[in-house]
Amino acid sequence: MFNGITQFPNNFLWGGATAANQIEGAYLADGKGLTTIDLMPLGPSRNQVALGNLDSFVPKEGEFYPSHEAIDFYHRYKEDIALFAEMGFKSFRMSISWARIFPNGDDLTPNEAGLQFYDAVFDELLKYNIEPVVTICHFDLPVNLAKTYGGWKNRIMIELFEKYSTTLFERYKNKVKYWMTFNEINMLLHLPYTGGGIIFEEGENRQQVLYQAAHHELIASALAVKACHEIIPNAKIGCMLAAGNVYPYSSNPEDYWEVMNMERESYFLIDVQSKGEYPGYAKRFFMEHDIHLELGPQDLEILKKYTVDYIGFSYYSSRCTSSDPEILKNFTDGNVFGSVINPYLETSEWGWTIDPKGMRITCNQIYERYNKPLFIVENGLGAQDVLLENDIIEDDYRIEYLDSHFAEIAEAIKDGVEIIGYTSWGPVDLISNGTGEMKKRYGFIYVDKNNDGSGSLRRIRKKSFYWYKEIIADNGAKYFQK
Ligand code: BG6
Repeated sequence: MFNGITQFPNNFLWGGATAANQIEGAYLADGKGLTTIDLMPLGPSRNQVALGNLDSFVPKEGEFYPSHEAIDFYHRYKEDIALFAEMGFKSFRMSISWARIFPNGDDLTPNEAGLQFYDAVFDELLKYNIEPVVTICHFDLPVNLAKTYGGWKNRIMIELFEKYSTTLFERYKNKVKYWMTFNEINMLLHLPYTGGGIIFEEGENRQQVLYQAAHHELIASALAVKACHEIIPNAKIGCMLAAGNVYPYSSNPEDYWEVMNMERESYFLIDVQSKGEYPGYAKRFFMEHDIHLELGPQDLEILKKYTVDYIGFSYYSSRCTSSDPEILKNFTDGNVFGSVINPYLETSEWGWTIDPKGMRITCNQIYERYNKPLFIVENGLGAQDVLLENDIIEDDYRIEYLDSHFAEIAEAIKDGVEIIGYTSWGPVDLISNGTGEMKKRYGFIYVDKNNDGSGSLRRIRKKSFYWYKEIIADNGAKYFQK
């Protein structure tokens, strides 16, 4: 009666994913304003800025800011896109820098030169039949919005974002069909400055500030969904979650309860974006933590009416937790939120847990929770590559990582999970968001650049470049062969 699914969908969007602030550089070119990420230095203070504990509204003498040049995609996008096309990309996920369009965020009119840059990038992608997948806000805000208004703390951000996103939909309505509102919206709760341009003032109730800011982002996201559907009826617009399933350290029910709490903390915001209302567990959390959201008169209706079309998510690692404080001390790093060391799994050079099966579990979990198509918009391995003589880079560890994850994505598809596409993180080496380093490389394409900014910026194909090209060429057929 059931024949089973025997391949990746025909129009599966294989590709790669990036963010403006991690690739473009040209940080003040053609009228662009400074962004929050342009003021996040390499080195020890980066994390304090990201956490919102240290303000960084003006460049400081002696600091190095990796985004200022990044990998200079701004001037090299044709070369990079040609390489993506050579690999056979069907899609390219990128973000737009808000400050190229509205340099201060609250300008009356958009910056035409900024709009033209993205026109040129989209045209170049479309020339090769590569579908642009656009994140409207991937962490970087015009710094003026953080400085003048306190970032997403302030409700005024909703109308500024509405103006920004509507400008994009109007301008690119014939070029872009896939949109996403906020990158990893749940990061706001963990990295308030990175996620929302928020710096805490002394004595401020941090949780109140964070959840109010999150509410503003949720309303802004819902209004972007509304505008997108009105302006580009055939477009799809999604949310974006930093995902990764959580395991209990033991079978103790208390451990499992910790798992649920951790997962809910992640899902909470996209529960609202996808289902249109605050879940019961969130209301209880607000009540018990003395959090009082200020709501506009239409807010709940807006959330209800304008839910997302698909769920975009990043998956790098699974996590593990425990109710035992002693076990909680055995911690390893991860994509911002770390994890109790899982004795069954290996970790990357940066301590991130490697768990291909977690990819299948995560796909199934999210699909069952929302019943909407999924788009895996980030996944990959950050590693130090060695450039050998004759421009050879043997990144077998990356191939192994991706291969094992693709196998599990195929299993999830066989499980019946609907997946639109897969864009691996950083198809060309780029600046690490977490550390600001260059040496944490994810790419199929090596960029000759070092942590201190030195290097020729030359692009070099790695072994994984040819491997990914073959996978795309037959639509991942090997993962469906018995
Ligand atoms: C995600 C972000 O959290 O993880 C990206 O959306 C980021 O911007 C990626 O680069 C990998 O993290 P990192 O810290 O290795 O760059």
